[in-house]
Amino acid sequence: MQKLIVANWKMYGSKTMAEAFLKTFLYSKTDTYNYIFCPPFTLLASFEKFLNSQKYILGAQNCSSFENGAFTGDISAEMLKEFNCSYCLIGHSERRQIYHEDDEKILTTKIQQLLKHQITPIFCVGESLEDKKQGTAFQKIKHQLNVLKEINNEIIIAYEPIWAIGTNKVPNIQEINEMHQFIKNLYLKPLKVLYGGSVNPQNAADILTSDQVDGILVGRASLEVASLLALKER
Ligand code: 13P
Repeated sequence: MQKLIVANWKMYGSKTMAEAFLKTFLYSKTDTYNYIFCPPFTLLASFEKFLNSQKYILGAQNCSSFENGAFTGDISAEMLKEFNCSYCLIGHSERRQIYHEDDEKILTTKIQQLLKHQITPIFCVGESLEDKKQGTAFQKIKHQLNVLKEINNEIIIAYEPIWAIGTNKVPNIQEINEMHQFIKNLYLKPLKVLYGGSVNPQNAADILTSDQVDGILVGRASLEVASLLALKER
């Protein structure tokens, strides 16, 4: 099974940068991995323009819990589908922490909206440093995964410890494996679990080589073609 490399560009990038990036990326890329790009909404059109090459898949970073209506600033799942998005991040810790978007009901309706429009959710979970220190990380992750209890469709889970995001601190491979195994054991059906948080060309080989890891969710290291392509197994 091909592993996924999901590039979360967060609030970075411009049209000029995206076009230059994609030209180099499409020229250099091999077929070892499935790449999913989640650029800011404003760059979806730039990414969609090159999508015919089939060398990457398009995704988004968030979506509205509503179908449509007077919701200033929101983007619906249907709008994402119009740009050929096949995946969408939901419940990223930056949305949960900075914008307090961690209401179970809202996260559930966002997922339902995506599934209605044939977009696969990438549901993000992760414990804080406090949880880790108190030994409650597994409890926290199980609690966050409650949102998925009524959902039977295909979904991807991204395990991103909050303390590892943007910090250059990464759990060791045993810790990653243990958490991925824990998440997979909560479900009857096989399911893909990605690791995210300070993945870079130095640590990616260890992480991607693990059998428990179905792919990676990458922030900073996905913004340059050379570092993105340097993320690979041994
Ligand atoms: P970094 O790779 O920059 O730590 O970001 C991880 C992340 O939040 C991806 O969603």
